[in-house]
Amino acid sequence: MATENKVIKCKAAVAWEPGKPLCVEEVEVAPPKAHEVRIKMVASGVCHTDWGFLYEYRKGMRPRPFPLVLGHEGAGVVESVGPGVCGFSPGDKVIPLFMSQCKECEFCLSPKTNLCPKNRKKTQQGVLEDGSSRITCRGQQVYQFTSISCFSEYTVVSKYNITKIHPDAPLDKVCLLGCGVSTGYGAALNTGKVETGSSCAVFGLGAVGLAAVMGCKAAGASRIIGVDINPAKMEISRKFGVTEFVNPKDHDKPIQEVLMEMTGGGLDYCFECVGNVAVMRVALESCKPAWGTCVIVGWTELGEITLTPMDILVGRTLKGSFFGGWKGVDSVPRLVEDYMSGRLMLDEFVTHTLSLEQINLAFDLMVSGKSIRSVIKM
Ligand code: APR
Ligand code: ZN
Ligand code: ZN
Repeated sequence: MATENKVIKCKAAVAWEPGKPLCVEEVEVAPPKAHEVRIKMVASGVCHTDWGFLYEYRKGMRPRPFPLVLGHEGAGVVESVGPGVCGFSPGDKVIPLFMSQCKECEFCLSPKTNLCPKNRKKTQQGVLEDGSSRITCRGQQVYQFTSISCFSEYTVVSKYNITKIHPDAPLDKVCLLGCGVSTGYGAALNTGKVETGSSCAVFGLGAVGLAAVMGCKAAGASRIIGVDINPAKMEISRKFGVTEFVNPKDHDKPIQEVLMEMTGGGLDYCFECVGNVAVMRVALESCKPAWGTCVIVGWTELGEITLTPMDILVGRTLKGSFFGGWKGVDSVPRLVEDYMSGRLMLDEFVTHTLSLEQINLAFDLMVSGKSIRSVIKM
């Protein structure tokens, strides 16, 4: 390509500081170094975690460097590759992964986890392997959120944080497999391991929660209770498989008591897809003593989950996963194919398609409960 080995000037949405709207700026994206791939981003979903990073930062999250480019649910096309990269060529359709899969470490070799530590420290620091980012704006280094930064027309990622997908995949839909849909769907299938005929409750019916609902349905759950404080989620959640809807605001008593009564003693599986420690506690208490499993899916760094020994001694299980437990390099291409063959819904999640300039509108639509997913088309 004509751009190979050259710095590319393009647009990116820069987060200059926490709590302030993103600014679309001209940035420079350096060529990929060894073991890196430069991607022309085509589409990127806007996830609650992007918003949380910006607007909950000052409430007590771990410090991270700013300025940075957010976005971790994208899809694009390879523009060029650095030395030492095999298996990727310009033009390949790809999904960048915020969790690496190196295929060599103890964790990648174990079927029990998808938590590869390769580059993880650097990922949290917003840089690539050599300790710097590939994005600059007016000469200043701009950090890469989760080392990928999808809210940019071009980005550079490690070869361990990218996967090649089907050449016919529609990138403005399959981008959702980069985070939200894979996270919820896998939480039900891989982490919860929902069984046929079981009863499930999903707390929070955003994209992550609705994908968990879809996973519960795929696993053959007979009852799927959706719990959300937004009444508008009742109608939409039925499409994904919710059989009953509960709005905590419609009840005077704690929602765990309502669910206990509805199910005659608790649920087999509960999924917390809000990212709120109080809801996590409620989800655990809503599980059937003896064998109920509570899966923490929502992300937050604010607060702690409180529980009494008895909550667990009775036999409940509390567990969690990142990215639905999927090993990204291997699993995401298969999920793309499941969507293309009609086994997995994605179109139904996309309520808004916006331009990069409209990125702050995507956040507004999310927090006001008007969107399931906004997809930014670059
Ligand atoms: N009880 C029930 N539902 C709630 C509550 C509550 N107390 N508070 C919020 N919700 C609902 C919202 O009404 C919304 O429908 O949770 C849903 C969250 O959806 P989104 O904001 O679209 O978030 P999503 O992108 O699905 O992410 C959910 O997973 O990865 C994490 O950071 C992410 O923690 C977030 C969670
Ligand atoms: Zn996300
Ligand atoms: Zn690994």
